[in-house]
Amino acid sequence: MTVIRTENLTKIFERGKKHEVTALDSVGLDIPRGEVFGLLGPNGAGKTTLIRILVGLLTPTEGSAHVLDRDVTEDIGYIRERVALLPQEAGIYERLTARENMIYYGGMYGIPEDVLNERADNLLDLVGLREKEDYQVKGFSGGMKRKVLVARALIIEPEIIFLDEPTTGVDTIGARVVRSLLRKLSAERDQTIILTTHDLNEVSELCHRVGILYDGRLVAIGQPSELEEKYRAANLEEVFTGLVTGEGVYEE
Ligand SMILES: Nc1ncnc2c1ncn2[C@@H]1O[C@H](COP(=O)(O)OP(=O)(O)OP(=O)(O)O)[C@@H](O)[C@H]1O
Ligand SMILES: [Mg+2]
Repeated sequence: MTVIRTENLTKIFERGKKHEVTALDSVGLDIPRGEVFGLLGPNGAGKTTLIRILVGLLTPTEGSAHVLDRDVTEDIGYIRERVALLPQEAGIYERLTARENMIYYGGMYGIPEDVLNERADNLLDLVGLREKEDYQVKGFSGGMKRKVLVARALIIEPEIIFLDEPTTGVDTIGARVVRSLLRKLSAERDQTIILTTHDLNEVSELCHRVGILYDGRLVAIGQPSELEEKYRAANLEEVFTGLVTGEGVYEE
């Protein structure tokens, strides 16, 4: 079953009268339930814009986007109750502790506090912050904050999780923990995961399929191995740099 579908999705930002930026250009995408889908592309390619449209923070200029069979411009309330977002520039509650961040966030979804506390126990263990749970996060390092935000997004047990650069700034071991947690959620709970990353190893390890955005256009989509074959590349990095620099890629 498809949980995300975009058709001809286009977003144009107007910057003053003369200057326009086409952040997304006719993007068509279908993502089935339970998939871990990686969005790749250089800085400014449109990854964050796409995610922001799918959670209703931006409206499309043209085309359509459906999440859980609802149109994002019509039923965003329904969608927001069922999806979680880890934003690229995240609004963490600096003055709350790690646990309080999670409980407060989950409370906004109407989840009872005892349920939240139980989930928080588990998630804090998983991301390795149990011993720090009662510290205000303003004293946390960047990577630790990132982990709190991942755990906070997951506490609502959403059907779809959008993670905009979940492991940026997280150390190697922490990033592995986050990845294995995400893999588990997709495999065991059939949660759909859409993530952006600049780490191509992360993609090979985690994603069933990837989409490469370049200048607002979806220039390639498929399983990492399919793309390697299609572009006769030794690995995903070659596919990516080939598409983005125009060097050394031969499409059949
Ligand atoms: N609110 C905005 N107003 C005007 N232009 C914007 C806005 N948000 C994004 N853009 C522009 O849209 C384009 C796509 O930006 P976006 O943030 O989606 O890229 P990205 O792929 O997430 O990049 P990064 O890897 O750096 O996070 C860029 O040219 C950016 O400058
Ligand atoms: Mg971004």
